[in-house]
Amino acid sequence: MKKNIGAVNALYPTAVVLVGSELEGVINYINIAHVGVIDMRTISISMGKSHHSNKAIKLNMTLSINFPSEDMVVEADYIGLVSGSRVDKSKVFESFYGELKGAPMIKNAPVCMECKVINILDMPNHDVFLVQPLNTYCEEKVLLNGKIDLAAVKPLLFDMHQRKYWKLGEGFANCWSVGNSYKK
Ligand SMILES: Cc1cc2nc3c(=O)[nH]c(=O)nc-3n(C[C@H](O)[C@H](O)[C@H](O)COP(=O)(O)O)c2cc1C
Repeated sequence: MKKNIGAVNALYPTAVVLVGSELEGVINYINIAHVGVIDMRTISISMGKSHHSNKAIKLNMTLSINFPSEDMVVEADYIGLVSGSRVDKSKVFESFYGELKGAPMIKNAPVCMECKVINILDMPNHDVFLVQPLNTYCEEKVLLNGKIDLAAVKPLLFDMHQRKYWKLGEGFANCWSVGNSYKK
């Protein structure tokens, strides 16, 4: 017997990403957990309209998406606690740039994408930035046969229900494959 707990969005965990932007020459990072895959090229980033990062992104129409590892949890949480409108967060991480202006990336993040904003969905309190990566930069150590290996990335997962960061478990079955053993 299931208990109905109301209109609760149960779609967690999500990956935690650190979104980089730049306003008036100052680098800023924000913690974003409401991130999604639209298709193989397009990602959604749901961001409160009042956030400092929001202004910067609308100005440049670029941003970066950085995957923190488990060992970056303190810094990742900190940048989600304070706003760049009051606190300079530019030194929390060492940054580097790729090809895009306004999209600083985090040196010690294992995976970083520099992205262009292709559309903005205007919601009552949030803007949903639809973005596409121009380049994805990975530490060699997180690549297995040239592809990203999540076991090496050690991403942070976000759980809104218990307000906790989670670690990834183990890969245990192959997609588009294990289903072939289904017995009709
Ligand atoms: C774990 C975590 C997840 C968050 N996820 C989001 C999110 O998905 N969207 C959002 O707008 N804010 C999110 N926030 C809040 C912002 O990160 C926070 O308000 C931040 O200080 C805004 O920074 P800024 O004003 O410098 O842009 C999250 C914060 C934390 C700690």
